[in-house]
Amino acid sequence: MPGWGWGSARRAEASGCAEGPWRRGHRLQLHKAGLAAWNPRMNYTRFITAASAARKPSAIRVMTEILGKSSKSVLSLATGAPNPNTFPFKSAVITIDNGETIQFDEEMMKRALQYSQSAGLPELLSWLKQFQVKLHNPPTIHYPASQGQMDMCVTCGSQEGLCKVFEMIVNPGDNILVNEPIYSGTIHAVQPLGCNIINISSDEHGIIPDSLREILSKWKPEDSKNPKKNTPKFLYTVPNGNNPAGNSLTTNRKKEIYELARKYDFLIIEDDPYYFMQFNKPWAPTFLSMDVDGRVIRADSFSKVLSSGLRIGFITGPKPLIERIVLHIQVSTMHPSTFAQLLVSQLLYQWGEEGFLAHVDRVIDFYRKQRDALLAAADKWLSGLAEWHVPTAGMFLWIKIKGLHDVRKLIEEKAFKKEIFMLPGYHFYLDSSAPCPYFRASFSLASPEQMDMAFQGLAQLIKESL
Ligand SMILES: Cc1ncc(COP(=O)(O)O)c(C=O)c1O
Repeated sequence: MPGWGWGSARRAEASGCAEGPWRRGHRLQLHKAGLAAWNPRMNYTRFITAASAARKPSAIRVMTEILGKSSKSVLSLATGAPNPNTFPFKSAVITIDNGETIQFDEEMMKRALQYSQSAGLPELLSWLKQFQVKLHNPPTIHYPASQGQMDMCVTCGSQEGLCKVFEMIVNPGDNILVNEPIYSGTIHAVQPLGCNIINISSDEHGIIPDSLREILSKWKPEDSKNPKKNTPKFLYTVPNGNNPAGNSLTTNRKKEIYELARKYDFLIIEDDPYYFMQFNKPWAPTFLSMDVDGRVIRADSFSKVLSSGLRIGFITGPKPLIERIVLHIQVSTMHPSTFAQLLVSQLLYQWGEEGFLAHVDRVIDFYRKQRDALLAAADKWLSGLAEWHVPTAGMFLWIKIKGLHDVRKLIEEKAFKKEIFMLPGYHFYLDSSAPCPYFRASFSLASPEQMDMAFQGLAQLIKESL
């Protein structure tokens, strides 16, 4: 397979390029972290910041893991876990939409209110791992741990996971690749890290591979072995129902992009919270499903299909990188809410994979109808005034108003005054001061009648502004 032979050169890089004291210190940390071992496919060391490499397991968190697996006979005076008998919450019964219930009796409630493992509740993690394998069948499942074996952790929504991924990888001055318009949560997570963000052109089918190829042609493939060349570290993209553009990346483009990632040795961050909101079957193969090298970090979310407030997401990627994320979790959130994880876990075991997917189908039916209602309103009121593409996933319609080169005032002031709320497109660009003719309309919450009234009012305002 092309790319597998790069290992020896990468080993040379890991062991001996000209370097200053910072980089020497960095390498020392990598060695201590067990990340500097030679890996025939991937050299994860070159992607990690010094801060991430310096992370060590927290003794208290390790003890929590051990206690989680120990029998009741253990005499533990070890952890600082509070005594749950003192907590005021005693039991709970949660009704789900088929009328069945999830019961938290006193014992379960004690567990739900207690600290738990940083990578995620073991039973939830094992359900998710099985499901992930079933959905994506990642080639890395049986790879040796150090060589990018698929691993996972649960995070407080995918946002927490993504933020930790960026902080694990990005040094000031690093080059990273994105496609505008970009989810604003990502802009605000990466911009403060001081990296150089390079935009790749995209259209209604997502990133245009030729645009990526052209950007990458500034480098030679072998430049990735030379840190001074500063080759891009990763490509970040939202492959389905992109927020805000609503576009989805085609399978062929994904394959081309993956091959370019292999050629120029960068990681792919696949942020896919709208995966379970794809309107057409079969669902598109993911980057994770193509990942023969262990270079994909995938962010999933339950926010759009189970609950956004429970804050449950999960990150899937090569073990050496997931381990770094978990070390960061150990000293930040410590773990996502045990209660939320137990609730989701109980639901998933009660439903099984088929029950979950049947629920997802109901969610998709709802959003498909909502999308069609918004499209009908757009056709009725905005034809001739604006243009858009039909989204095949997600919850957003990205609309370009014709004849206005900037819609900021129209959306933010005039429409707002009329109590018609939408998001002007500039929020989703790296340079938010540049004029932008787009706005984002969400079809998640409004009723078809409200959508109709909103676009009727907007059409009036556009005509007055032209
Ligand atoms: C593209 C994208 N990524 C990540 C997130 C974060 O989602 P979560 O609720 O899982 O943190 C969102 C939320 O809207 C999103 O649109």
